[in-house]
Amino acid sequence: MAIERTLSIIKPDAVAKNVIGQIYARFENAGLKIVAARMVQLSRQEAEQFYGVHKDRPFFKDLVDFMISGPVMVQVLEGEGAIAKNRELMGATDPKKADAGTIRADFADSIDANAVHGSDAPETAQVEIAFFFPALNIYSR
Ligand code: PPS
Repeated sequence: MAIERTLSIIKPDAVAKNVIGQIYARFENAGLKIVAARMVQLSRQEAEQFYGVHKDRPFFKDLVDFMISGPVMVQVLEGEGAIAKNRELMGATDPKKADAGTIRADFADSIDANAVHGSDAPETAQVEIAFFFPALNIYSR
């Protein structure tokens, strides 16, 4: 399987719960390497841009309000099949439907406050990584 990069966000609920380290351990234990990271307080404009693909969805305003409610921890994960592997670790969008042992099953409270984001495809990963990190700030191997 190819070495990929994916964008991961630890959302404001999980940052507030002080579980960044526990989530990082899950990435590392699954063979994903953190090759860039920063803590960010998103502005409304930045959150609206990042989630622009969902702008016509009924939950868009709540999603943006939530994502700017506190700092987020943003990282680039690298490894074999990183995009799918991260989404497997995250579990389903709705924590009530997430498999036991996944990040959302263990740390998320609701479909709105669901602890983590992960890119869903190589094209979105590329766009999302570039949104937060200039290539110079990614430290790969
Ligand atoms: S979908 O329905 O397949 O487009 O959903 P998905 O791409 O998994 O997630 C959309 C993002 O919006 C967040 N969000 C919600 N989704 C569905 N319903 C409600 N009510 C809702 N509220 C927020 C969801 O967590 C996804 O965010 P990210 O950050 O991409 O995981």
